[in-house]
Amino acid sequence: MKNTLINLITKSAKQSKDQLFSAIQPARYLQGLNKQQVGRGKTVLITGASSGLGEGMARLFAKLGYNLAICARRAERLERLQIELMAEYPDIRIEYRVLDVSDYDSIFEVFNTFAADFGHIDRVVVNAGIGDSRRIGKGRFDTNRRTVEINFISALAQCEAAMTIFRAQNSGHLVVISSMSAMRGLPKHLTAYGASKAGLAHLAEGIRADMLLTKLPIQVSTIYPGYVRTEINTNAKPLPFEVDAETGTKAIVAAIEAKVNEACVPSLPWSLVGQAMKHLPLQVVNKVS
Ligand SMILES: NC(=O)c1ccc[n+]([C@@H]2O[C@H](COP(=O)([O-])OP(=O)(O)OC[C@H]3O[C@@H](n4cnc5c(N)ncnc54)[C@H](OP(=O)(O)O)[C@@H]3O)[C@@H](O)[C@H]2O)c1
Repeated sequence: MKNTLINLITKSAKQSKDQLFSAIQPARYLQGLNKQQVGRGKTVLITGASSGLGEGMARLFAKLGYNLAICARRAERLERLQIELMAEYPDIRIEYRVLDVSDYDSIFEVFNTFAADFGHIDRVVVNAGIGDSRRIGKGRFDTNRRTVEINFISALAQCEAAMTIFRAQNSGHLVVISSMSAMRGLPKHLTAYGASKAGLAHLAEGIRADMLLTKLPIQVSTIYPGYVRTEINTNAKPLPFEVDAETGTKAIVAAIEAKVNEACVPSLPWSLVGQAMKHLPLQVVNKVS
């Protein structure tokens, strides 16, 4: 009993230290993990891996020694990434599958096929998403509905598929890529997008609560990225506190590796901005949108 308690305290102290280090110095934190090759023998499944954050995460996880199960609609991009990473990291296994996440049945098929192929899936990153919502009441219900369907309903299907696999394995790490826009209701083109990402964050928290309740050893992490320059915002003018894809992806992977429950990334300034967004009047919050 005493030993179990000591182990628990030691483990939780180490985890807090890791989470602080990963937030303050993500690049250095990852260097340490890289030396240890923490991913050796483990498999990460990433949706939306054909560009931006998904592609960047795939590159970093490969560097850490993980096998990769990657998917998206653009097969040529996935194939190119597979060839490039296999040449660079010949010891890992990389498989790709074409997946349109608006085809819900396909999500279950693709995830289950990956699980059967690899024998075990250690982590699923629910990342596929789109960002083109429009002002409400301006005749663009089609665009807004599509945004909510891809970013929330398709993400729900991905969480269902991942959790079914994790429950059968009695282990796993579910990661969802939400957004800083989930912190408050936002105006203009961000209204439906932010609502979809808030829904996703709430969904992940509910799954985490369920894991606590049922004492299943499955972790759930919610990542709230700030503005990262990728294809999703190609034509946008300079964005508040924006970072390039490499910086953004390092911050995300460091937070994931530290197994945070929730993280705003990059931690500075977004963890402070997140707190401010939650409490400041809406007129002030409007300034970051
Ligand atoms: N960049 C940011 O500033 C930022 C901030 C907060 C949150 N995020 C979130 O981060 C995630 C990744 O975005 P990103 O910035 O990396 O943008 P991105 O470069 O446009 O990547 C989006 C990815 O999602 C995939 N995708 C889109 N629709 C899909 C569909 N119907 N079926 C399957 N895959 C689909 C795309 O692949 P295919 O087109 O090949 O299918 C692509 O790989 C998104 O969920 C986004 O909301 C981004």
